[in-house]
Amino acid sequence: MKILVTGGAGYIGSHTVVELQQQGFDVIIIDNLSNSRASVIGRIAAITGITPEFHRFDLTNRDACRTFFETHPDLGGIIHFAAFKAVGESMSTPLKYYRNNLDSLMNILEGMKESGCRNLVFSSSCTVYGQPDELPVKETSPVKEAWSPYGNTKQMSEQIIRFSAKAHNLSSIALRYFNPIGAHESALIGELPLGVPNNLVPFITQTAIGIRKELSVFGDDYNTPDGTAIRDYIHVTDLAKAHVTAINRLIRKTSEQSFEVFNLGTGHGYSVMEAIKSFESVSGRSLNYKICGRRPGDVEKVWADTSYANRELGWKAEKTLDEMMASAWKWELALSENNELH
Ligand code: NAD
Ligand code: WQD
Repeated sequence: MKILVTGGAGYIGSHTVVELQQQGFDVIIIDNLSNSRASVIGRIAAITGITPEFHRFDLTNRDACRTFFETHPDLGGIIHFAAFKAVGESMSTPLKYYRNNLDSLMNILEGMKESGCRNLVFSSSCTVYGQPDELPVKETSPVKEAWSPYGNTKQMSEQIIRFSAKAHNLSSIALRYFNPIGAHESALIGELPLGVPNNLVPFITQTAIGIRKELSVFGDDYNTPDGTAIRDYIHVTDLAKAHVTAINRLIRKTSEQSFEVFNLGTGHGYSVMEAIKSFESVSGRSLNYKICGRRPGDVEKVWADTSYANRELGWKAEKTLDEMMASAWKWELALSENNELH
């Protein structure tokens, strides 16, 4: 069965393509490489032995999308990753984010309507919850007012999918990721942050390898056991496997609902200091860091209630924080030995 993966050259997309191919799916990627490298396609093939069909174009281009769907009438499902994702950048360029993330989604939905492809898995985010009133956060917890245009595009996308799926007889799943980290065990694919990383783990590994001077720990005065903020970090391969489960659920018509939402996390929260300690223990390096003020817009603590995803999808994250950190470090070491991906 053919599965279209938009954003399949990106971080989570590339790991999902590998898992899909290893489960026997025939994968087609659309990516404009705005935040990824063409060489990722060859690296996917090096892992799985299969080169995915690759189309490079911008999903906001309505004509290019229409042509793609006309020439691919036999898609079994779509996993839609393609989006811009930098929260800070979205504050200064909101229209760039609304245009890219919403136009791409609507072109995909139009294509589904016209081509007859019925099954859609969408990349959503725990950012839709903001700071939840109750922890762990459940799928039924309220979606709070967005703090960033990026987060708002995820909230709006979920609503656009919910109404479109109902009206056009589609089956859809929004997966709300918590904090994806780590890399494939082969160290052939992983996260490729352009410029200075915003996220904690790439900043840790780049500091340890000497690209950055020191890590700033944003705040140690939170209401948490050690004062630093808490997140639910999940290994990217565990996350990728959940996508295979989700697309199978749609293909097999396990649910009669046209729109479902699942949290994808481990269910455990770790503080920034615990993440640093884990990195130091698996890498054997001591990390240069300093405590700084809080980062504006950060929530204090969030972790997932994963019981609904565990039960309904039959999926559970397996990797420990140490395994996640070890794989992120292995990837950073591989990157430092190979300039092809920079
Ligand atoms: P990424 O930037 O590595 O991958 C996204 C890919 O989409 C890139 O390869 C990029 O070139 C492509 N793309 C973007 N706009 C496009 C367009 N208009 N046309 C064609 N291709 C386009 O990001 P990622 O970390 O793999 O994230 C994948 C999805 O998961 C995104 O929707 C993101 O918002 C969501 N998400 C990510 C995280 C995270 O922390 N990484 C957390 C929650 C949700
Ligand atoms: C984790 C923790 C920081 C960097 C972001 C998006 C969210 C989702 C996942 C897409 C926080 C602290 C970080 C640093 C630090 N993405 N930190 N020093 O902010 O939880 O979530 O990625 O949907 O929408 O906002 O992830 O990795 O940036 O931060 O102390 O240099 O690490 O304050 O507590 P975040 P993160």
